[in-house]
Amino acid sequence: MMIVGVIGAGTMGSGIAEAAAQAGKVVLVDIDQGRAEEGWQAIEKRLNRQVERERIDVARKDEILGRITATGDLTDLKVANIVIEAALEDLEVKKELFASLGKICSAECILGTNTSALSITAIAAHVPGSERVVGIHFFNPATIMKLVEIVRTPFTSQECLEKVKSFIESLGKTPILAEESPGFVVNRLLIPMINEAVLLLAEGVASAEDIDTAMRLGANHPMGPLALADLVGLDICLAIMETLHKELGEDKYRPAPFLRKMVRAGRLGRKTKIGFFDYS
Ligand code: 3HC
Repeated sequence: MMIVGVIGAGTMGSGIAEAAAQAGKVVLVDIDQGRAEEGWQAIEKRLNRQVERERIDVARKDEILGRITATGDLTDLKVANIVIEAALEDLEVKKELFASLGKICSAECILGTNTSALSITAIAAHVPGSERVVGIHFFNPATIMKLVEIVRTPFTSQECLEKVKSFIESLGKTPILAEESPGFVVNRLLIPMINEAVLLLAEGVASAEDIDTAMRLGANHPMGPLALADLVGLDICLAIMETLHKELGEDKYRPAPFLRKMVRAGRLGRKTKIGFFDYS
């Protein structure tokens, strides 16, 4: 059975770990044992809900949970066949992590990053064997969303891409392939739309509720752009807009000043219980 390492036990990391446990064993790592266990407990809670809704039985829940080990020790990834990093969205943090992974993991282990918009080539810079470094980008909520973007750097090998493709398919998800470029495909389209919704709100064109209703009923989106920003996290939306703006150099990617103010106010969406909407 495949062994999948997941780094970061937050919203995305724990979701990816749960998705990956459908197909293999998972080592879920965070900076300490406590945080890793919090991620494990979040998975347990979601699986309990699935049992209550009679989608899975208790035996299946126990089987999935039994495949996931939580740890605060990065060296536990030495047994992994594939690692997916979903840690802090900070280039320096990721570069350092990948340099360590280069030493800890076997030479055959695929090293994937779930970065939303950072340069995978830069993340891979200090890793021996950069042909095995690749973007593996899941969407929130990771257990539900069917798409995974596979992002290739100029150095990623064909063999690595093929292996990642079969791994994604084994999770019941659909991969698409993208060349490395800021925001890849989905975030390049989606986050500027969210940014535009924030501009509409700040200009007083319509209320937050009406902007979201407009896109749900007028464009058949499952949720409105402002509720989606709250789900993704306003800090993440801002970081992606800043990357698009910096890397692509066009004014159309300028982050909405009100988005910046919301982040400065600590109103980050669901995770702080307040964003454009109230979740308290
Ligand atoms: N976490 C985990 N599971 C969740 C969830 C969450 N935050 N919200 C809802 N779900 C689950 C529910 O438990 C339910 O699962 P079940 O059917 O197995 O019980 C299922 O999703 C459907 O939920 P609901 O019936 O309550 O609600 P909806 O039908 O409205 O679906 C939704 C909720 C799936 C979140 C849907 O509104 C949706 O698809 N929204 C758009 C999400 C999206 O666009 N995500 C991409 C964001 S961009 C991104 O992640 C990239 C990153 O780099 C920024």
